[in-house]
Amino acid sequence: MDKITEKIREMYELFPYPAGGVTMRLGADARLLLSYGKRTRQSRGPLHVLDAGCGRGIGLLGCAVLQPDVQFLGIDINRVALKEAADQAAARGLKNVRFMECDLMTLEGLTVPEGGFDIIYSSGVLHHLSDPAQGLRKLKTVCAPHGLISFMVYASYGRQPLYRMINGARILLGDSDPVAERLQPARALVESARDTILKNTPWYNTPDVSDVEFVDRCLNPNETSYDIDSMWTLFDECGMRFIRWLEPDKWSVEKALEQDELLARARTLSERDQYRLIEQICWRPSFQMVISHAENSPRPGYDTKEVRSTLFAVNPEVSYSLETRSIRGAQRIESLSYRFGRDENVRLKKGPMTTALMILKDQNMPFIGESLIKVLADEGVSAQNAIRAISELVELNLVYRPHLSEA
Ligand SMILES: C[S@@+](CC[C@H](N)C(=O)[O-])C[C@H]1O[C@@H](n2cnc3c(N)ncnc32)[C@H](O)[C@@H]1O
Repeated sequence: MDKITEKIREMYELFPYPAGGVTMRLGADARLLLSYGKRTRQSRGPLHVLDAGCGRGIGLLGCAVLQPDVQFLGIDINRVALKEAADQAAARGLKNVRFMECDLMTLEGLTVPEGGFDIIYSSGVLHHLSDPAQGLRKLKTVCAPHGLISFMVYASYGRQPLYRMINGARILLGDSDPVAERLQPARALVESARDTILKNTPWYNTPDVSDVEFVDRCLNPNETSYDIDSMWTLFDECGMRFIRWLEPDKWSVEKALEQDELLARARTLSERDQYRLIEQICWRPSFQMVISHAENSPRPGYDTKEVRSTLFAVNPEVSYSLETRSIRGAQRIESLSYRFGRDENVRLKKGPMTTALMILKDQNMPFIGESLIKVLADEGVSAQNAIRAISELVELNLVYRPHLSEA
């Protein structure tokens, strides 16, 4: 293990990340992720997912509960966190998740399923590696040809106020004393910036976060962060390519710019320049994206003429809330809202798309377009409106198109 990795391990073993209990995160459903790539899986059998740098495994355990037919493996260098994660899995009786000690810089000892992992998650890890390019190249070697990597790394522009705090703490406290000794003075320093440097930024809550979160944010022994250009350079160096953002709305000029003239100009920019623009004008503290081997590509859109025979599935990462009212003993539906992760609820207007969603929201098996068109016809929706409604659902990512091989 190299010296930097040793330091990282020492810090995380004292402050195992993250705090909190088992949770379900966005960008974690294996079939949904695979639907974003063009290449399909050639083999049969269960899907295999690797969480590279799983920490205490709270995200991976959530995945294992919700995707019982998928096999999960979590790796990390943090022995304290791995033990806790394995104990949690045993306590829950989970048979589809394992944890093992393994350094991402070498991947020595990793058991790779035949053909490679279908999906790799790596959230908040690559930027702490002593050589992120080497770590990413290693992950590429164990990622199946059709496989996708769902990952998060720090975005340098979005973290600028935090970097001022980190630099300040380094000037004042150095970086040779044990992290535990620097913790309280660093907290006091950050507190002093609450109403200045941190105010009105995504980092405003830094003085209030738990010790585990604070150490990870402000006293990390090693951290590289990226801007759009350096991110894409890393992909090129490693033979990988960008497939999509996990939350495309956050990188859409349509959402960022209200003025028509500005928007028209922005639309003339290349896709990469649109992202470069967003990173300058919006707070984007991290890049959450899906990437693949350079030879794979984003799945092409579908032809609405083929909607009847196309296979769809409801996005399992969306939550719904139904507002009802009792009128003289009868339940009346007032509205339907949906939400991705911790985003705000989006309330839907009445119409064919909402009717379709009412029918689909509890559906957990894939279905073909024809069957939904038929059910909607019983609700008085014409075939043409039903096809439009399905397209809108796909556009909003509420419904996706699983690959036949994984359905
Ligand atoms: C910020 S935590 C993220 C944990 C988890 N992915 C999450 O999102 O909750 C970073 C994790 O990466 C792990 N890590 C850092 N360098 C590593 C390496 N070379 N090999 C394996 N894990 C590593 C740390 O031990 C730590 O658990």
